[in-house]
Amino acid sequence: MTATALPGSELLAHMAAHDPSFRERTAESLIAVEKRLLDCAAESGDPRVAALTGHIATAGGKRLRPLLVLLGAEFGEPWRDGVVEAAVIAELVHISSLYHDDVMDGAELRHGVASANALWGARLAVAGGNWLLARAARLAAELGPDMVRFQADVASELVVGQLREMTGPAEGEDPVAHFFQVTSGKTAALLAMALGAGALRAEAPASYGRALTEYGRQLGIAFQISDDLLDLLAPASATGKEQGKDLAAGVPSLPVLLAAADRRPAGAELRELLAAGPLADPADRRRALELFAHSPAPAAAEAHLRRRLRLARAALDALPAGPAHRALHALCDYVLSRVAPTVGAGALT
Ligand code: IPE
Ligand code: IPE
Ligand code: MG
Ligand code: MG
Repeated sequence: MTATALPGSELLAHMAAHDPSFRERTAESLIAVEKRLLDCAAESGDPRVAALTGHIATAGGKRLRPLLVLLGAEFGEPWRDGVVEAAVIAELVHISSLYHDDVMDGAELRHGVASANALWGARLAVAGGNWLLARAARLAAELGPDMVRFQADVASELVVGQLREMTGPAEGEDPVAHFFQVTSGKTAALLAMALGAGALRAEAPASYGRALTEYGRQLGIAFQISDDLLDLLAPASATGKEQGKDLAAGVPSLPVLLAAADRRPAGAELRELLAAGPLADPADRRRALELFAHSPAPAAAEAHLRRRLRLARAALDALPAGPAHRALHALCDYVLSRVAPTVGAGALT
């Protein structure tokens, strides 16, 4: 496998453009992570189960979470034992959550191919996700109680985030505050854990671990907002996921909440569409996407995203300068670059 063929290499090239030796070193670790990851999925002992558990990892993915583990480790002694394994654990937890998330959202497309639930049905997809989480727990046990606690805590936060998304805000709860709580659990917790686990395995100073974790929380929220914007503004050919699937699943993402709060007639029309529940009818979805793209909500959501990136960057002030520090800043640029062209295009049309 070459570094350029590696999932995650595009992200790395973007982040470490000015540090070739750092990039090479990190690419080598990512290759080791990739091999372990794909081996894990094949370890169930049954070829049909292996096809199920390996499906999403084989189809693609940015490998953001393993990269974050490796970057967290750069603030200590990255050559220490267990860094690559911690990166594999973070990605296994992520991929497991994708199996479950696609069932919950009724998603048919993931990484540009049919989702596990579309191919095998929801019951097998849930079981496949469970198996991957169990595999992550086994790896964590090999690294010791700290990693077991990290993994258990993040899995619990993730599930609570997903559950709170499904239950919706409580009576009288502000829906935007609810969105941020959901996002902190379902997405940001794992990004924070990835950085913290890397720092822990590399025996970085505790104050660095705290700064990295705070960075990961804020980056995670910005990342979810970028994902939510792309859900509404970008075609499946760009994301590998169906456009408007949050509308189809009735997920009240921040951009949707902001658009529905608009007091002008377009906002009222969108509220009326959304009041009927998940938008199962493709014509309703197309209309909602159109209303959204012409509303002030994409720019308003981007402003929230930029604020989170500012908080993420501020957390980096507590960390020493160097290639990993530069890479974490570049990752903030990357998250913004995912949405900036789409938001601009939406606002102009
Ligand atoms: C998707 O995450 C789930 C969210 C938290 C939005 P990624 O965009 O990082 O997933 P990959 O890269 O497709 O695996
Ligand atoms: C991701 O949120 C939450 C997970 C725990 C996977 P989304 O529901 O927005 O993820 P995508 O858009 O399907 O990747
Ligand atoms: Mg979801
Ligand atoms: Mg999404």
